[in-house]
Amino acid sequence: MSKIALFGANGTIGSRVLDEALERGHEVTAVVRDPAKLTRTHPRLTVTTGDVLDPASVAAAAEGQDVLVSAVGGGDGPGHVATIEPSAKSLVAGLRKLGDAAPRLIAVGGAGSLRTPDGKQVWDAEGLPEFLLQIMHAHGDALDFYRTVSDVRWTNLSPAALIEPGERTGAYRTALDDLVAGEDGGSRISAEDYAVALLDEVERPRHIGERFTVGY
Ligand SMILES: NC(=O)c1ccc[n+]([C@@H]2O[C@H](COP(=O)([O-])OP(=O)(O)OC[C@H]3O[C@@H](n4cnc5c(N)ncnc54)[C@H](OP(=O)(O)O)[C@@H]3O)[C@@H](O)[C@H]2O)c1
Repeated sequence: MSKIALFGANGTIGSRVLDEALERGHEVTAVVRDPAKLTRTHPRLTVTTGDVLDPASVAAAAEGQDVLVSAVGGGDGPGHVATIEPSAKSLVAGLRKLGDAAPRLIAVGGAGSLRTPDGKQVWDAEGLPEFLLQIMHAHGDALDFYRTVSDVRWTNLSPAALIEPGERTGAYRTALDDLVAGEDGGSRISAEDYAVALLDEVERPRHIGERFTVGY
């Protein structure tokens, strides 16, 4: 059993991570801006207030935990720009306050920077709308930042190109920087199976200090 603090527990991905963690017997502290929005109750769930953009709040949430998970998002393109790279910096700054006692960090990333079979990156595809490019590059900037960090145990987990609520199959494939796609070229994962992969990484750390990705 691990003690996990989770930012973004109200979100599409974060709520699946919360369910999967509780299902596996972990103890979860959901760190939310508005506790009234989190209606889930469970004997091993604690809800506390916090802001991922405030390093003091991150440190308070992370203290005494084994793993800190961030599944935060910023809505439209500008919202992600204001949230994603700043949250990466705040998460690392907060963990640094705890020194050697800091838990490891697993942050939900983005698919935009993943390599495609033609040698390009997902965000090079033609016709992507501006808001989506902003979101993809916000995650790319956060990943570039994480890659400069060697004193905090971070992991960045990029979803497949398409992630949406669906079935929990428990089956998935992983790669480091290459997009995981099926034989039809489609790259997808359910939010439930993404959560399975994330909790597998919690329980069996294989990607400390690197990004990996998950898809079918
Ligand atoms: N294919 C891909 O690459 C792909 C696809 C989908 C999502 N994603 C990424 O996955 C992440 C999660 O996506 P999602 O769809 O699950 O997002 P979501 O449903 O919009 O949820 C985002 C969560 O972040 C929380 N949050 C935002 N700012 C915060 C702050 N300052 N402090 C604390 N919590 C904060 C929100 O809390 P409130 O409830 O208080 O607002 C909410 O719970 C995003 O970064 C998104 O870009 C990637």
